[in-house]
Amino acid sequence: MTERTTIERAELGRGGPVVGVQGLGCMGMSEFYGDTDEAAARATLEAALAAGVTLFDTADAYGSGANEEFLAPFVAAHRDEITLATKFALERRADDPAYRGIRNDRAYIRRAVEDSLRRLGVDVIDLYYMHRRDPAVPFAESVGAMAELVREGKVRHLGLSEVTGAELREACAVHPIAALQSEWSLFSRDVERSAVGAAAELGVAFVPYSPLGRGFLTGAFADAAADLSAGDYRQHQPRFTGDNAKTNAALLDPVREIAAAHGASPAQIALAWVQQRAAVHGLTVVPIPGTRKPERVAENTAATRITLTGPELALLEPIAGRVAGDRYPDMTFSSAAREE
Ligand SMILES: NC(=O)c1ccc[n+]([C@@H]2O[C@H](COP(=O)([O-])OP(=O)(O)OC[C@H]3O[C@@H](n4cnc5c(N)ncnc54)[C@H](OP(=O)(O)O)[C@@H]3O)[C@@H](O)[C@H]2O)c1
Repeated sequence: MTERTTIERAELGRGGPVVGVQGLGCMGMSEFYGDTDEAAARATLEAALAAGVTLFDTADAYGSGANEEFLAPFVAAHRDEITLATKFALERRADDPAYRGIRNDRAYIRRAVEDSLRRLGVDVIDLYYMHRRDPAVPFAESVGAMAELVREGKVRHLGLSEVTGAELREACAVHPIAALQSEWSLFSRDVERSAVGAAAELGVAFVPYSPLGRGFLTGAFADAAADLSAGDYRQHQPRFTGDNAKTNAALLDPVREIAAAHGASPAQIALAWVQQRAAVHGLTVVPIPGTRKPERVAENTAATRITLTGPELALLEPIAGRVAGDRYPDMTFSSAAREE
């Protein structure tokens, strides 16, 4: 195994795996953000590993299993060098592509893990997340069933996604949780209400998803309606549509200004900001930007080496409060809907 030290490493939660401090989100390689060039996506995985990225993020729901299958050859080639994270809970239906059910029951979890293991071609998943919580199912059952998988050697560490601080505390009482993966970026800061503080207190690492605001923070969406291809899921995202997109594009001016001062791109400033939350809140932060382009990996990982100054952070502070539109068309899919 080659030693790669190009980005720093950190423990993903107390007793968790040691990973590069930036991971790679693989979702867009199979669904949601328009067409993908498969060769470029495969080159992106290799470029990420070469840059020191070791946490690779997928879910059974991405492409209804296709994203896990897509990753299998890469995983087979690099099994001992990577930390493989996948998720269960979002049920899809072949006859209704828009359908999303939330399943947290034990029987479903036991089936889901077997399906993910088979598609990924592995006998153990390094980090297994509950993608969404069904509040009707107590954590004793859902996290209890996940803990069984750890005892059986099918899963190494547990994670949750989009839970509140109170829910994280409840879950940790059933079994240690290594990582909380929720949306956190310059545009989305509702997790700071309770989840971030709870994660810091419990020794749970934070894995911010969509740290680039699903691409908006890169500055590529001045006119989202024109900039998104047909079939791109973001056409239905409130922040990318109509007047909201115009309002939100104007919020990027300070990001551009700071980027220019650092000789960096807006994407890098957005990533540096979320990375710097580690120092601000006293917890491990491992963002997982998604890209399908190998040339963007070096740009994104270089952001781990940018430090924003106090005055720069102050300029960025008001942005989230001014964003127009929710982060989901249906906010019941977010932990924010269950914040007290
Ligand atoms: N737990 C959950 O519920 C949940 C929800 C959403 C996502 N996720 C995970 O989080 C990962 C990341 O989130 P995300 O993909 O939604 O959003 P993101 O990382 O905020 O943004 C991805 C978008 O930014 C573009 N991009 C990336 N780097 C760039 C750069 N340097 N310059 C310009 N554009 C750049 C990508 O385009 P290209 O691909 O064309 O480069 C893509 O359109 C996903 O892949 C997935 O694994 C989890």
